[in-house]
Amino acid sequence: MCGIYGYIGKNDAYQEVLCGLTCLQYRGYDSCGIAYFDDGFKINKAIGTLDNLPQCSEVVSNIAFGHTRWATNGEVNINNTHPHISFDKEFVLVHNGIIKNADTIKRELIDKGIPFYSDTDTEVIANLLSTLTGRIEKRIERLYKLLEGSFSLIIGHKSGKIYLIKRFSPLNILKSDDGIYISSDVSSLKDGLLYTLKDNDIIMIEKNEIIALSNTKINFKIHENKIKEFTMGKFKHYMLKEIFDTPKGIENTYYYLEKQNIRKIFKHFSEFTLLGCGTAYHSCLIGEIYLSKIVRYKVNSCLASNCEISKKIKRNHLHIIVSQSGETADCIKVAEQIKKHNGKILLITNEPSSTMARMADYKIITKAGKELAVASTKTYCTQVFVFAYISQLILNKRFRLDIQKLKNDLDKYIAKIKVNSLVNKLKDKDKLILIGKDIDYALLLEASLKIREIDYIYTIPMYAGELKHGTLSLIDKDSIVLSLNTSNDKTKLDIVKNEINSRGGEVVAVDELIDMSKFNQYFKPIFAIIPFQLISYYIALKKGLNPDMPRNLAKSVTVE
Ligand code: G6P
Repeated sequence: MCGIYGYIGKNDAYQEVLCGLTCLQYRGYDSCGIAYFDDGFKINKAIGTLDNLPQCSEVVSNIAFGHTRWATNGEVNINNTHPHISFDKEFVLVHNGIIKNADTIKRELIDKGIPFYSDTDTEVIANLLSTLTGRIEKRIERLYKLLEGSFSLIIGHKSGKIYLIKRFSPLNILKSDDGIYISSDVSSLKDGLLYTLKDNDIIMIEKNEIIALSNTKINFKIHENKIKEFTMGKFKHYMLKEIFDTPKGIENTYYYLEKQNIRKIFKHFSEFTLLGCGTAYHSCLIGEIYLSKIVRYKVNSCLASNCEISKKIKRNHLHIIVSQSGETADCIKVAEQIKKHNGKILLITNEPSSTMARMADYKIITKAGKELAVASTKTYCTQVFVFAYISQLILNKRFRLDIQKLKNDLDKYIAKIKVNSLVNKLKDKDKLILIGKDIDYALLLEASLKIREIDYIYTIPMYAGELKHGTLSLIDKDSIVLSLNTSNDKTKLDIVKNEINSRGGEVVAVDELIDMSKFNQYFKPIFAIIPFQLISYYIALKKGLNPDMPRNLAKSVTVE
């Protein structure tokens, strides 16, 4: 959460930073701000998205950095918006992460008479740094030791020098002919030479030179521009584009998987724990069904936010972490515990250069392409595809997939889905029950999350048979219940439907909106979730909401 971006070079730095931050807005859009150097740092800030910031600076500057915020410490207001400036104006900084001992430090500083104007932990960093004495590099080194928690920081000194430090949160530098770029997200960077900072690095940028002040060897590697992935093309929103990107993402993931020796990884293990948060956890639930019911492995799924690993892990036990971003703090915390207890990690991620990708023993990369809408769509489908593929591969040595057919089927299928009349029925509802069984229930957890997160409708996913054990009391003549039945047994949900109908409620079978019966059973969950993704997208539009930027949320949650 929160994106930080900086530029030092021959171009207009304010414009470069504004442009870089647009690629990071998916990480947070509560408020934003840019500091640019003109004989000292000047700051522009705004509430909401980057459109609300002045679109140019008063003077053309060659040094600037900025921030797009997802509020954690302190409400959304201008005082809490980054960049933050120290009380004596010596330092200006932007921060991604959370300082765990900020309250203690703040109290000590207040006792010394240091004034504070915000509720953020970031202002605490700025003021603490200003009160330390000695050479700047020594002060930054000391700052690093005094701060607990996670952070990546761009620190501007009043002289125009820029300092970079990080712990846990990612930070990257890119050198190109145009200048030096800094970003919390590799994919927002252009072509050039890339260095990903390590914890304990202290780096200074002065007059277009990158200088390591710590014991660091800055090894640059070639980086290819991914910025084209940040455009929506003919679509109005990233979410819709990303739903339509799904077939291509699955095709690319398949070609990638074909080149990996997946059987070899699995050969070493017979017990599996699947871990993730949010949508990624929902794909773990599908993975659990595939690996336990089809392959007959011993498998359980855990929410990373609710998982504590405190004893030695057996050698035959593999932890599979699913994380689109590879940056989710709750997953990183569990990954650290797994490593501490000698466990092995297989990471399924869409971001090969993420923090967790560097921690994992084995990696499977979903090739969905950059996902920017907060609600995950195509990455969920590629994660489910990976589990379906792995279980088929392990089960059947001769497994072959006609990927072209699967891709074409999906392309045609998505183009044919019509949800308009259902969306009109649902858009004014304040609650919605979704019922299904077995794997359909796991899919409905994800469908429900989509409708909750971007449409603000209270959704209740239920095992169909559980409805009569309490929740039936919610059914009245205004109720609509969405059902899903991807099995070939069409009688399964009939009894429950009768129970709802006799109380005046209406049941809409989403699987009957579009025929999915002819598709391969193992890949059917991918077909089944897409109508729900489209339903949630179009409800948001009807309600006048921005589906890409739901309130209060951020794409990758880098705080515990
Ligand atoms: C946040 C996002 C969800 C996402 C979850 C896990 O809550 O809003 O869309 O599923 O984090 O993210 P990850 O990057 O680990 O898959």
